[in-house]
Amino acid sequence: MRRKHLVAIVVVIFLTWNFLMYYMLVSKNPGKLGSISVEDQLKILQGDIRHQLSHNSELLQHLQELDRKIHQTTTPVPYDANRFILPILLIACDRTTVSRSLDLLIKYRPNKNKFPIIVSQDCGHKPTADVIQRYVMEHDIKHIKHPNISDIHLPWPQKKFQGYYKLSRHYRWALNQVFHTFNHSAVVIVEDDLDISPDFYEYFSATFPILHQDPSLWCVSAWNDNGKLDMVSDDAELLYRSDFFPGLGWMMEKSTWLEIGPKWPDAFWDDWMRHPDQRRGRACIRPEICRTSTFGKKGVSKGLFYEKHLKFIKLNSKFVPFTQKDLSYLLKDKYDTYFTKLVKDTPEVTVAEAMSGHRSNMKALKILYSTKDEYKSTAKKLGIMDDFKAGVPRVAYNGVVSFMYRGQRIYLSPPPGWKGYNIKWS
Ligand SMILES: *[C@@H]1O[C@H](CO)[C@@H](O)[C@H](O)[C@H]1NC(C)=O
Ligand SMILES: *[C@@H]1O[C@H](CO)[C@@H](O)[C@H](O)[C@H]1NC(C)=O
Repeated sequence: MRRKHLVAIVVVIFLTWNFLMYYMLVSKNPGKLGSISVEDQLKILQGDIRHQLSHNSELLQHLQELDRKIHQTTTPVPYDANRFILPILLIACDRTTVSRSLDLLIKYRPNKNKFPIIVSQDCGHKPTADVIQRYVMEHDIKHIKHPNISDIHLPWPQKKFQGYYKLSRHYRWALNQVFHTFNHSAVVIVEDDLDISPDFYEYFSATFPILHQDPSLWCVSAWNDNGKLDMVSDDAELLYRSDFFPGLGWMMEKSTWLEIGPKWPDAFWDDWMRHPDQRRGRACIRPEICRTSTFGKKGVSKGLFYEKHLKFIKLNSKFVPFTQKDLSYLLKDKYDTYFTKLVKDTPEVTVAEAMSGHRSNMKALKILYSTKDEYKSTAKKLGIMDDFKAGVPRVAYNGVVSFMYRGQRIYLSPPPGWKGYNIKWS
């Protein structure tokens, strides 16, 4: 028994010594051991290089991450919330009902120095000018008049679009006034047929720092294209990112105007903004419940559309103290992680199942679409807007359209592995 023990100990010591000697030799003269063939040496070298490469690419990623963080925090000039001025630009023409818009803009305005109202009037309509002038006297608003009210010469097929051409020309001039003549650093643009919600100013004040900070955002809009009464939840706090430019009460920064102003189009400016050449992958913030609604039937584009759609839009009536809330969840990195997971974890059903109400116990359901026709047919069945602009469905973010259907949240979503919008979908 003792002898066996001793032999075992000696063997262990011998093996350990051998192992140590070998290890020291290899680590001192790597690759020089006669016993390792050239082929093996090459393999070792290859391994070393691969290791080094992966280390380098990790380092590079780390550096890029750092660079991005530095840019995120230093590129936008920090702004002083107390001294920040956010002008409201009201685009007017020949409707004396502009007073209805102005009444609400003044009623809900918390501070006239912080939110100066500029009414820009085109069309030279005297009765409308007189109405606006009353507000200049009583409420200290600014009234500017587009100096060029001449007709725009258009060849015959375009003649019927005169109104769109004039509107675009007016926008260009008015925005140049705001940013170049008055030197403001941001603007909220409304038109003369809009009502606003009580928290309209609060909403734009609170989202401005997010817009300013996140280069992947280029606007904040008051509008939800699927914001009809029965298609939104009661949660007035709910905000989203949207790849679709909604317009209808929207904010942008001067930097955006400096970029798009010089190439501003002669007509159809909103669709032009939705084109990838202008949008360049950027998103807007939009609410669940609209902060504006339109009351005008007359307008260059809104006649039929108003009767069919716009008049059913729900205007928010609850005041949400947005400036006291943390809205950083809307920043791209945080939002994308959260939203992707949210949609991924939502149970998938067919349109028929969603409509049958059999799954009404679930909070949310997901319906997939892979083709344009699938999207359109599903949208029609569920009653949401079924059109695309530059391949983007209204309100979509990363292809996903979120809305309520009979009290249940629905995500109309492309399948996993989505490659981006197809500009040919229209
Ligand atoms: C007025 O607008 C028309 C059409 O956009 C343009 O051709 C013309 O030069 C403008 N006139 C002035 C004085 O800016
Ligand atoms: C315009 O405003 C910026 C800051 O927003 C300021 O640096 C610049 O001096 C101003 N320019 C004029 C002409 O007032």
